[in-house]
Amino acid sequence: MDTIGSDDIEKMEKSYRTAMMNSISGYKPLNLLGTISSDGKPNLCIVSSVFHLGSNPPLLGMILRPPRPHNDSLKNIRSVNQYTLNNVTSETYRNAHQTSASYPSGVSEFEQCGFTAYHQEGFKPPFVKESTIKIGLEPVQITDIELNGTTLVIGKILLIIADKDITLPDGSIDHINAGTVAGSGLDSYFLPRLLDRLAYAKPDLQVSSILTNKS
Ligand SMILES: Cc1cc2nc3c(=O)[nH]c(=O)nc-3n(C[C@H](O)[C@H](O)[C@H](O)COP(=O)(O)O)c2cc1C
Repeated sequence: MDTIGSDDIEKMEKSYRTAMMNSISGYKPLNLLGTISSDGKPNLCIVSSVFHLGSNPPLLGMILRPPRPHNDSLKNIRSVNQYTLNNVTSETYRNAHQTSASYPSGVSEFEQCGFTAYHQEGFKPPFVKESTIKIGLEPVQITDIELNGTTLVIGKILLIIADKDITLPDGSIDHINAGTVAGSGLDSYFLPRLLDRLAYAKPDLQVSSILTNKS
């Protein structure tokens, strides 16, 4: 077994530490963050930091890196007050990865990386046509994290556009059918498979499957 302590982490070579810390927490959802500048320039970048924050109100959190001059996403979210999150699929993960390249400010990753903008009435930033799940959000809290210069963006879900048969009868999203890809670190892409779905856990109940073909 490898035991790695705080001193070892501090002494690690920079890119080695980055690779380890980026992947230590496991599989993460991958989304394409769609924004638009106040003068109408669209922007797209891959993010792996989106997380569920609450269902009522429906909130998603997301962590953005300390901004550099060419980074448009946070600027656009602040100025337009809307953004979109679009799932990365097995068909699009290579193009999605390319959106992380440092294109100059104002250059559209939609064009550069082969994605099609999808527009919805009443929503300024573009969605990604190729994504099977498209989410429209409004930022409701933007908090600078003093510890490392990152920014927590909390968004309220205003709109969901999902391909047919992706919403299950109980409301859950079927990510297998949606072709949603998961990620680890900044370079590994996975197509997960369903192990089981389990009944709501209660202290006096045995763990049981809610899938009809399992016991
Ligand atoms: C797999 C993967 C996941 C990423 N996740 C994030 C993330 O959660 N937050 C972030 O700020 N950048 C993330 N990045 C980096 C951004 O995609 C990259 O910095 C991008 O250029 C920012 O776009 P912008 O310049 O248009 O703002 C990720 C990159 C990769 C390859």
